[in-house]
Amino acid sequence: MAKRSSKKKQLRPATTLVHGGILRSQFGENAEAIFLTQGFVYDSAEAAAARFKGDEPGFIYSRFSNPTVAMFEERMRLLEGAGAARATASGMAAVSAVFLSHLRTGDHVIAAKALFGSCRYVVEELLPKYGIGSTLVDGSDLSQWRKAVRPETKAFFLESPTNPTLEVIDIAAVAEIAHKAKARLIVDNVFATPLLQKPLELGADIVVYSATKHIDGQGRCLGGVILADEQFIADHVHTFLRQTGPSLSPFNAWVLLKGLETLHLRVERQTASAAILADRIAGHRNVTRLLYCGRPDHPQADIIRKQMTGGSSLITFEVKGGQKGAFRTANALKVIRISNNLGDAKSLITHPTTTTHQRLSEAARLEQGITPGLLRLSVGLEDVEDLWEDLEPALDRAAR
Ligand SMILES: Cc1ncc(COP(=O)(O)O)c(C=O)c1O
Repeated sequence: MAKRSSKKKQLRPATTLVHGGILRSQFGENAEAIFLTQGFVYDSAEAAAARFKGDEPGFIYSRFSNPTVAMFEERMRLLEGAGAARATASGMAAVSAVFLSHLRTGDHVIAAKALFGSCRYVVEELLPKYGIGSTLVDGSDLSQWRKAVRPETKAFFLESPTNPTLEVIDIAAVAEIAHKAKARLIVDNVFATPLLQKPLELGADIVVYSATKHIDGQGRCLGGVILADEQFIADHVHTFLRQTGPSLSPFNAWVLLKGLETLHLRVERQTASAAILADRIAGHRNVTRLLYCGRPDHPQADIIRKQMTGGSSLITFEVKGGQKGAFRTANALKVIRISNNLGDAKSLITHPTTTTHQRLSEAARLEQGITPGLLRLSVGLEDVEDLWEDLEPALDRAAR
């Protein structure tokens, strides 16, 4: 049976990202082992019975738990400072599981409108199919959260910074409203990463990630994780995942563990490059609007100072010429590639109107500030000067 190293000392994030949660087998391997096994064997029928009954610790079946997945969960738990963590096959599996595991018919959810498209589908279309009502609010307007509360409200949900307009929501203030309503606040912390924002410390009850983004950070696999207190995970999430099966593959858990080892280096470098590029893009004559969480002109700069420790790797900007201008810009890029993923080693650009947010009506997009000329840039690990030499001539082409 693999043993967890019992380090008592509270380690700093960079150290936790390398050593946290390691379960070493009897072979003493240095790198985390990949336990590509569906099931586990028992020394006797009695031992199997005891494990199923919960009288004996140990792994049973990889849909429930697996040593490589457990290492990833523990490393994430330590990093986030949560009571417990459960991994899932994708970020959307984490978001769906968090709602479906603890809500029932008659319950009500309040969510910020500016959500990633699939999250919005879950809240707006999927939950109501099961009789779970939902109200969408302008997340930055605290009075709208207050007004939307009903006696049956059980969960608040937000993403901050939001995709793609990088709007920032005051997590501590929304947590206070949620708790007054006896509801839980769930935060999708994908854009900030676990390094730049700590929603649990700000009062959130549950944090979800698409590990597909910065946590892998090298475009290889999908993954997700749910972090909360031990009781919530044990009472709701654990059983839901065990019985419905959106489990993370051990191979993907291993990829994500290796991704975590370099997370702080990547996020630090990407954020530093993004800050430089944001200033240069903002100064370009063909750019009509730029949003970056690290700039003092961000509309919620005061909240950012309170709850984030860096501007992140994402920049959103609007070019002259509407959709045609945005397409001309994207098509002229040679180093930066057109892709809807983010948090990757490679810099990626996307046109939200026709990709990630194409499912929304034009009115819903415009309400969120997603105009046809808007582009979202995820800054990677390339040399920042090569990125600028790619971007500047591409921006020159936006307006004809
Ligand atoms: C903010 C946000 N939440 C959730 C998801 C879903 O993650 P995944 O693609 O891993 O299912 C994404 C991206 O796809 C995202 O950008």
